Amino acid sequence: MLDSRRVRDALGQLPTGVTIIRTVTTGGDRLGMTISSFNSLSLEPPLVLFSIWREANSFVAWQQVERHAINVLSEDREELSNKFARAKGEKWIGQTVLSGETGLPLLPNAVLTFECEAYDRYDGGDHEIFVGRVVQLHENRAKRGHPLVFFGGQYRRLGTVEATAPADIINFLHGR
Ligand SMILES: Cc1cc2nc3c(=O)[nH]c(=O)nc-3n(C[C@H](O)[C@H](O)[C@H](O)COP(=O)(O)O)c2cc1C
Repeated sequence: MLDSRRVRDALGQLPTGVTIIRTVTTGGDRLGMTISSFNSLSLEPPLVLFSIWREANSFVAWQQVERHAINVLSEDREELSNKFARAKGEKWIGQTVLSGETGLPLLPNAVLTFECEAYDRYDGGDHEIFVGRVVQLHENRAKRGHPLVFFGGQYRRLGTVEATAPADIINFLHGR
């Protein structure tokens, strides 16, 4: 039997970006959570995904949400990442919130923000996979190229460019 700690440590060697997903429930409560499982899924239709641990306090509330904003953090936001990663933490105290076109509580100064409609959910073992359809996209040019990176349990910044991938390889990434 494979030890889950070993699997976790192995997966920690894969660098990811760090996002904060945010929404408001129909009852008016704000939800927010730090998420590194965010990833691209489809271009047509434009779909993205992330997964939430079933034991998270806000898990059931997230299952009922119809819209959410995914905010990609810039390299100077590790404190905010920690704040939105604390279970039942006072996540919203002192937070300036921008209201998106869909009324979502967006994060000012994110590298990117995707406003999404809930598209579908899938079983993912002790997590559930949430798929969102991107309905609006905000890009912050000043932060472009400076995302926060999570690797081996530590926050990092991107280093220098070592090589540029050929155009045909980049296109292949998106299946065409
Ligand atoms: C860098 C980082 C990435 C994380 N990624 C995820 C993730 O992808 N899925 C998840 O369920 N929890 C993830 N977490 C933990 C959640 O942020 C944390 O359990 C959540 O904020 C708890 O919120 P709640 O108690 O309000 O439900 C991550 C934490 C950190 C620090």
